[in-house]
Amino acid sequence: MSINWYPGHMKKTESLLKEQLQLVDLVLELLDARIPYSSSNPKLANLLQHKKRIVVLNKVDLADEHMNKLWQVYFQQQGLEVIQVNATRSGINRLVQESVDKVFKEKAAQLKARGRNSRPARVMVVGIPNVGKSTLINQLAGKGSAKTGDKPGVTRGKQWIRVHDRIELLDTPGILWPKFEDAATGIRLAQTGAIRDEIVDQQELAWNLLQTLQTHYPLLLESRYGGDVTQPLIDYIDSIGQARGCLLKAGEIDYQRIARILLEEFRSGKLGRITLEKPLDEVTA
Ligand code: G4P
Repeated sequence: MSINWYPGHMKKTESLLKEQLQLVDLVLELLDARIPYSSSNPKLANLLQHKKRIVVLNKVDLADEHMNKLWQVYFQQQGLEVIQVNATRSGINRLVQESVDKVFKEKAAQLKARGRNSRPARVMVVGIPNVGKSTLINQLAGKGSAKTGDKPGVTRGKQWIRVHDRIELLDTPGILWPKFEDAATGIRLAQTGAIRDEIVDQQELAWNLLQTLQTHYPLLLESRYGGDVTQPLIDYIDSIGQARGCLLKAGEIDYQRIARILLEEFRSGKLGRITLEKPLDEVTA
């Protein structure tokens, strides 16, 4: 996450990704299920050209179940294979395997028609920082997988992980740079922790989040912080401050502390399962 996405860096990242893409049959594109729109990188479709992708909605344990379903349907309607995943939990290998089998079937048939032996699908994980790429790779590389080492000639320095018999996974994820298109997207990325806190004003993030939650998740707010959720934002912030004892010496409210609490409790899921974007209108606030 200590990456500054200046143009030179983006260019370098893009050319590295292009190199990696040449090695694989298909990609697992990780999206944060809480912000599928903001955590995507529209350039990926271009870079992939005819290569297939599977959309992996990750962190579904932190996201709203109903919204997970809506997003799944949304991507399916675009003809994409979609899976919902909590990369921190074991037991997802089979789901990934089935999905890869489905998508790779066509390519495997082509290989067979050309008289070539069937081989495992070569797969890589791509996504923006902090979306869960390493976690997913580690999970897939768990029991039942083995490092297969370099492939002579093409992949010097790259390790492949054999996942069951039918997937070879590149052990280095493809990194995508986050979107910088508009302020709302930047705010969503920072709220979920995809962009570093130091470069964004915490209070601005927290109050924006609180406003969204007042509109879309009032019951979750009420059960966590109590108070009258329908009161104006500034009054509700004060009421959270009082309830949580976020007070400075002079008895004034410690707004910075409330902001930190809100962001931490949202990111860790303590506030409940929350999705900040819905399909089609994309950003809910
Ligand atoms: P990256 O390689 O894409 O940069 O992401 P990484 O795997 O490092 O994951 C970033 C954080 O997200 C990690 O938390 C990881 O445990 C968490 N994470 C990944 N997948 C899931 C998921 O499906 N559900 C949940 N709840 N968490 C997930 P961390 O080590 O605590 O880092 P941080 O959050 O303090 O940055």
